[in-house]
Amino acid sequence: MSEQPVQHPIGVRRVRVPHLRQMKDAGRPITMLTAYDALTAAIFDEAGIDVLLVGDSMGDNLMGHETTIPVTVEDLLPHVRAVAAGARRPLVVADLPFGSYHVSPEQAVATSVRFLKEGLAHAVKFEGGAAVLPQVRAVVAAGIPFMGHLGLTPQAEHALGGKRVQGRGQDAGDRLLADALALQEAGAFAVVLEVVPAPLAERVTAALEIPTIGIGAGAGCDGQVLVWLDMAGYTSPVPRLAKAYADLRTGLRDAAAAYADEVRSRAFPGPEQTLAE
Ligand code: KIV
Repeated sequence: MSEQPVQHPIGVRRVRVPHLRQMKDAGRPITMLTAYDALTAAIFDEAGIDVLLVGDSMGDNLMGHETTIPVTVEDLLPHVRAVAAGARRPLVVADLPFGSYHVSPEQAVATSVRFLKEGLAHAVKFEGGAAVLPQVRAVVAAGIPFMGHLGLTPQAEHALGGKRVQGRGQDAGDRLLADALALQEAGAFAVVLEVVPAPLAERVTAALEIPTIGIGAGAGCDGQVLVWLDMAGYTSPVPRLAKAYADLRTGLRDAAAAYADEVRSRAFPGPEQTLAE
């Protein structure tokens, strides 16, 4: 295991919203991962990750739901607070769950305020383009940094007819670009582009002054985000457009099986784990 200190590409004690724009301008890719707890957040902080997203992907990855739709504010809030407690350097972004911002700009501000006050997040993200612009404007006017999310927006999975590639074809691509420009105009500081063709992601990235963060959107974005459980090989199978950099699932299963073997054979606890008196 490497004991080398991680070299942070930007030498700041805390990544803040303006740093991401500086990174785009300097051509330095932004690194973002999801995180859902303090321990993992601290590990990703040590690894030099710039942004931690407490995503509603917690729903289909950790909570056993089929989609992100059942996730509630009450589900997510303690996890946002845990990640904020574990992360010193990364920017912590809270993902607003389905139904917690759709109703009105007032609802979007109220939910965002909770994530900053109670969750101690630094910014919020929610899904959508033109349809949520009043919400975006209201959140930004309240002084809350906002990250957009376009392309495959999982909360709209039923409306989209499943987890499908978005922005294919000239018209759909133009609409997505118009949405991205509108989010920028409304005050977004970055936009996630999920599962869109790489040429479209490049076009959007070139057109925007704010950074794009891609997931399944090719290498032409200003940064990349992955669900950490996919990145670490914890999920099975790892989604096609993600990449596993470890095999945590096998490691964890083998560790649990070895522990069970030792308990059954009474090899654990051994003398080192036993108090003589
Ligand atoms: O909830 C989430 O993890 C996300 C990322 C996939 C961008 O929104």
